[in-house]
Amino acid sequence: MNKKIFIKTFGCQMNEYDTNRIFDTVREIGFVKTENLDESNCYLLNTCHIRNKAKEKVYHEIGRVKKNFRSRKKPIVIVAGCVAQAENEEMIKREPYIDIVIGPQAYHKINDKIEEFLSKQKKIDETEFDAITKFDYLDNIKNSSKKISSFLTIQEGCDKFCHFCVVPFTRGPEYSRPFKKILEEAENLSENGVREITLLGQNVNAYNYKNYRLSDLILEIEKLDGIKRIRYTTSHPRDMTEDLINVYGVSKKLMPLVHLPVQSGSDKILKSMNRKHQISDYFNTFEKLQKINPKIKFSSDFIIAYPGEDEKDFNQTCDLIKKIEFINSFSFIFSPRPGTTAANFELIDKKISLTRLEKVQKQLFTNQINMNKSLEGKEIDVLVENKIDGGTKFFGRSEYMTSVIFDGNDLDMGNVIKVKINSSNQNTLFGKSLENSEQRVA
Ligand code: SAM
Ligand code: SF4
Ligand code: F3S
Repeated sequence: MNKKIFIKTFGCQMNEYDTNRIFDTVREIGFVKTENLDESNCYLLNTCHIRNKAKEKVYHEIGRVKKNFRSRKKPIVIVAGCVAQAENEEMIKREPYIDIVIGPQAYHKINDKIEEFLSKQKKIDETEFDAITKFDYLDNIKNSSKKISSFLTIQEGCDKFCHFCVVPFTRGPEYSRPFKKILEEAENLSENGVREITLLGQNVNAYNYKNYRLSDLILEIEKLDGIKRIRYTTSHPRDMTEDLINVYGVSKKLMPLVHLPVQSGSDKILKSMNRKHQISDYFNTFEKLQKINPKIKFSSDFIIAYPGEDEKDFNQTCDLIKKIEFINSFSFIFSPRPGTTAANFELIDKKISLTRLEKVQKQLFTNQINMNKSLEGKEIDVLVENKIDGGTKFFGRSEYMTSVIFDGNDLDMGNVIKVKINSSNQNTLFGKSLENSEQRVA
């Protein structure tokens, strides 16, 4: 059998990382990656459960695959990720086209499960929580990512149980990977040509392995010559410890964009969300970081129209956005998730929710536009990631993660270079490389 696997990924960066690691794993039993669904004989859907309609989206996708293979031999159909964990064998009952359901903590068993399915043709549900075994197994398989900017999961799961969130149920308890294993993976990525590492975790700054913290990892990883930039996501305000704040004063490679989801600007709502911190704590962290490095900017996630949010609470969120001038942020209307505490709370009127979301997004977009406009005419540092537009333009990112499209040179790939910004829109900066290619060749 000519084994070809096609993976479609929804959700957060951790799912993207997992998808890559699944590719690395199934290679051991002879599967090669394909970008073409039609030629695949194994289809894997890596799902996300964070907001509304996640489940329906999955059945819709499977329906499309079913239609696609109507007149041909069906591929092995695997549902992985957070919906798989939450719904488990129910999925196979509802959609018998699905062959294997596998949760995020069971990916180390994926090869066995595929082979078991192939030999017995019996449906499989594998949704045990077993993070340690998963990483023990994956540590022996090299991370093959060669993308200039790659992810590295250092921590998984969550013990915080915010009242709106499914992650503690789908990803299980907090687990930090061994310090040494992470460094080995970072070294391996650097050797592959990776130049930017984003350290991942559902609570990345809660990383704690035998008293090694995220700050220790950052300082160790930056010793790797090949690595030019380090980022981390997603962090919780409660875990912004002094050592992590202070690392911004000494690290040469940690980027000055701090993604620190606040969710709401109201203490009353934060309490009802079970976030266990107050806005004054959040603002203190912002001030401390700005003092250490005035270049630092914040991005955040906001949940709008959380149950109980009145006009005063909402205005406090708007005030915080003005005060902190968040850039590159995400905002969502509250979505009740089955099994969470807030799923039982009374919802806010849809029209009011939408009006509030629009207002917040307008404010966030204005911050973004102003930030981008302020860079016009200036030279900024860009890490060159790839070519676009049929190879005529280059794509990279600023220190603040903003996309930059520019005229450049092949030799710049994987380097941090100076780009002069000529124009911008809300999401992108446009410019020209200032590097002198003749000098570089000489
Ligand atoms: N661990 C991170 C933190 O504590 O902020 C968040 C991780 S969560 C995967 C990503 C974002 O999804 C959250 O910051 C939140 O804004 C959003 N989110 C989670 N549950 C949600 C819900 N029920 N409704 C709307 N947005 C939600
Ligand atoms: Fe979800 Fe983040 Fe809260 Fe954990 S800390 S429950 S991942 S929002
Ligand atoms: Fe979604 Fe699971 Fe990530 S619910 S956001 S894929 S941790």
